Amino acid sequence: MESVFSTSKRKLLLEIAWEVCNQVGGIYTVIRSKVPAMVEKWDDNYVALGPYFPQRAAAEFEPITEPDETEIGQTVRKMRQLGYTIEYGYWLVTGRPRVVLFDINSIKQEQLNYIKGQLWQNHQLSTINVEDLVNQTIAFGEMVRQFITLLSEDHSRRVDFVAHFHEWMASTGLPDLRRDNVRVATVFTTHATMLGRYLAQNEAGFYGKLPFFDWKREALHYNIDTQATVERLAAQQAHVFTTVSDVTARECEVFLGRNPDLILPNGLNITRFAATHEFQNLHVRYKEKIHEFVMGHFFQSYSFDLEKTLYFFTSGRFEFSNKGYDLTLEALARLNYRMREASMDMTVVMFMVTKQPYTSINPEVLHSRALLDEIQETCESIEKQVGERLFLAAASNTDNTLPDLNKFVDEYWRLRLRRTVQSWKTKHLPPFVTHNLVQEDDMTRFIRQANLVNNEYDRVKVVYHPDFIASTNPLFGLDYSQFVRGCHLGVFPSYYEPWGYTPLECVVRGIPTVTSDQSGFGDFIMQIMRDYENRGIYVINRRTQNFNEAADQLASVLFRFVRMAQRERIAQRNRVESIAEVFDWSNLRSYYDTAHDLALKRRKP
Ligand code: UDP
Ligand code: G6P
Ligand code: GLC
Repeated sequence: MESVFSTSKRKLLLEIAWEVCNQVGGIYTVIRSKVPAMVEKWDDNYVALGPYFPQRAAAEFEPITEPDETEIGQTVRKMRQLGYTIEYGYWLVTGRPRVVLFDINSIKQEQLNYIKGQLWQNHQLSTINVEDLVNQTIAFGEMVRQFITLLSEDHSRRVDFVAHFHEWMASTGLPDLRRDNVRVATVFTTHATMLGRYLAQNEAGFYGKLPFFDWKREALHYNIDTQATVERLAAQQAHVFTTVSDVTARECEVFLGRNPDLILPNGLNITRFAATHEFQNLHVRYKEKIHEFVMGHFFQSYSFDLEKTLYFFTSGRFEFSNKGYDLTLEALARLNYRMREASMDMTVVMFMVTKQPYTSINPEVLHSRALLDEIQETCESIEKQVGERLFLAAASNTDNTLPDLNKFVDEYWRLRLRRTVQSWKTKHLPPFVTHNLVQEDDMTRFIRQANLVNNEYDRVKVVYHPDFIASTNPLFGLDYSQFVRGCHLGVFPSYYEPWGYTPLECVVRGIPTVTSDQSGFGDFIMQIMRDYENRGIYVINRRTQNFNEAADQLASVLFRFVRMAQRERIAQRNRVESIAEVFDWSNLRSYYDTAHDLALKRRKP
């Protein structure tokens, strides 16, 4: 009898994630940045599956108007005939893979109830009173399940299918694919555990207690039983189960009941410049833009020397203690104290970039920025007038003396400049939040408590920006990647962080960074490199140190950093950038290849 999985068959890989064409956090970065390396290996046999959110997809999705005759095209047509709304097209990212996006609204309430009934009957997965996101993922998971089932029924004689599921949000259909013995080799990658995220945030001494948690009890306690059970089912039922770091692997046995078969570290699509000084030039260019923001934000109250100013930042979703925002603020308060004690004339501006509900950008912040722009325009007009008149005077000059430049400026411009500057200056302290938040949060409370409220005498200033940075944002006019380049140091001393892209994104842009040994990235770098600190990757010990000790270590790292000479900073940026290639997907894809090969092997009879 012919085996359904024969070596001569074509292989087709489906990669399924909630974050395909839908940016939420780091999983989007995993899938998107990996596309070029996947397409290089799989070519047309690589297809990504995600949910369809029209507004989010608009900028990065191009539909194929009439489904083609490929296996995917035919299955899309079949699903549409069954009444589902499915988008089929290209993901407009480097590599331009085909994508299938499922409109979760095609599953109506009645059908959803039926699916939930089945999930209970087949897997004892309880879905009563779940939050809306969970309902959405169930609808998505069901459509994915049906899609893969049809695909396999029609084409698995000729094609070997591998389905790679990322995180529980994509995986509610996985257990039934196994139960129905659908001919597909499955891989499940978890990018965190739900219980880990919750418990790390809420249970003091989380890591010490880890081996003793009762997953079911905790899941019920935190009201995440459905999510945790989906994760557990997916981990146990996939042919191959993986996660992104050894750090998270430690949780898997406890919370998911299975040790990962493999660790798949995260990479990026690295494009380095032919000339190494190019990224240094970009640093200067984007730093100028940050200077503009800082002048607009601070100089209406008081000024400081921008030549002696360093820009630090942290960024990520709002998981206050998991992301180490608390530790960062504590260390900044200590740094501020040390810098003042040492009478240093340097200034550190720290940007805290995250996402929290807000009503609008603070109008005063916008207004100040607008006035500064007006001052700049006025100065440019004066410059032009002086230039033209000086040229005329110089050409007609006979006695070789330099004319009095003051005389070249019209009264109108003098007045206008004086008025604008006057109306701009204020006695208020520069705000430490750029937006009007819906409510006070842990960040604002901590900032106030640490008294990091931008007093003139403070050497450390804080700018809390409760929204991700995008080029459309009027405050910076930079996209996130440019913002990173313009800064001097990224600060990410996470307490709970399965991988953590943000420090890695600093490294590949040649910006030194702080990470922690409880983050997957920090742990990985400690395993593969000895001189990471010399290269500008500072790993804070959060494993054996308590909060206070870790805050001290971080404050010392920051203090050393502010005392470096510019020459040293430039050299350090070169050293950190030289690590980039290690994290190129062209090197790290092989881990994925191994997972897919193993899944196919395990699926074969
Ligand atoms: N990010 C962004 N804009 C911002 C801040 C963060 O696009 O203003 C992205 C960042 O580039 C990174 C992701 O958000 O790729 C966060 O991923 P990470 O793995 O650090 O954390 P997660 O959110 O997945 O826990
Ligand atoms: C780059 C540029 C130098 C510039 C320096 C500023 O290396 O090539 O011309 O002086 O950045 O570095 P800093 O750390 O002070 O922003
Ligand atoms: C998760 C984790 C983050 C990781 C990302 C990609 O969202 O929180 O640490 O970098 O997935 O694996």
